[in-house]
Amino acid sequence: MLLRGTDALKEAAAAGHALPGFVAYNLETVQGLTAAAEAAGRPVIIRAGSGPFKHAGREALIRLALDAAARSTAPLGVHLDHGRDLDEITVCLEAGYTSVMVDGSHLPFVENIAVTKEAVRRARDHGAWVEAELGALPGDEDVSTDGVAQSTAMTDPQQAAEFVAATGVDALAVAVGNVHGFTKHPVRLDLEWLAAIHEAVPVPLVLHGASGLPVEELHGALARGVAKVNVNAELRRACLEATRVTLPSALPGSDVVSLWAAGRDAVRDAALEVIGRLSPRPAGADA
Ligand code: 13P
Repeated sequence: MLLRGTDALKEAAAAGHALPGFVAYNLETVQGLTAAAEAAGRPVIIRAGSGPFKHAGREALIRLALDAAARSTAPLGVHLDHGRDLDEITVCLEAGYTSVMVDGSHLPFVENIAVTKEAVRRARDHGAWVEAELGALPGDEDVSTDGVAQSTAMTDPQQAAEFVAATGVDALAVAVGNVHGFTKHPVRLDLEWLAAIHEAVPVPLVLHGASGLPVEELHGALARGVAKVNVNAELRRACLEATRVTLPSALPGSDVVSLWAAGRDAVRDAALEVIGRLSPRPAGADA
């Protein structure tokens, strides 16, 4: 079923757990993510956005993701990730996306406010919620590059408060030391800084770049208002590793289906593992 509205996000923020946001690139990743959500019985946000649109075709991927979500026994959101183009945001809203991310993080503050405000206005007509970003995250969303340095452009708590009030945005992606993709050294989040942002803004926070994040950093973030966590590189790595292992047995018979199935199942298993990491923890667990 389609997961509409922000109740699940708000509940997660209040209870110290989070919804995972996973990227769908094609049929097999949509199937793997849906299977993981159903196996866990937990809500999941499928992120189908500009990068994957270039591979799968925008209309095709939009239809695939929405159709799978509507048929699923688990609550699935379908979300435009890193939307920088208001026309593309409108296309996704009109198609029935449950949420969009408007990414004006590369723009000057006032321009970020303007584009975000307009995305919020458009989303309201379609019953969708909006995530925006303030602060800059190093690294690439679809390819993990070596030597990514930790973020220095942290989200300013007071600016964040001003931004949320001015735009009416429903969730805010923040930069608190997080980076996209894997890094050579473990990432340390500035949890005090995150707590200051959490105190200053009334909406759930979003953590991008959570692949490979030490679990204590992650749980520290969940205890400080983070209610949606984006993980992608971990699933890409699992998919590639499974296809590498399967390739020798697939080659003799030109059995391409077994290769794709291995990738799909690896995405499912890796997603399930992340869902477990973000799910409510037993009472007394560390925060
Ligand atoms: P990773 O690159 O750490 O997997 O994070 C994904 C993400 O935040 C995409 O927006």
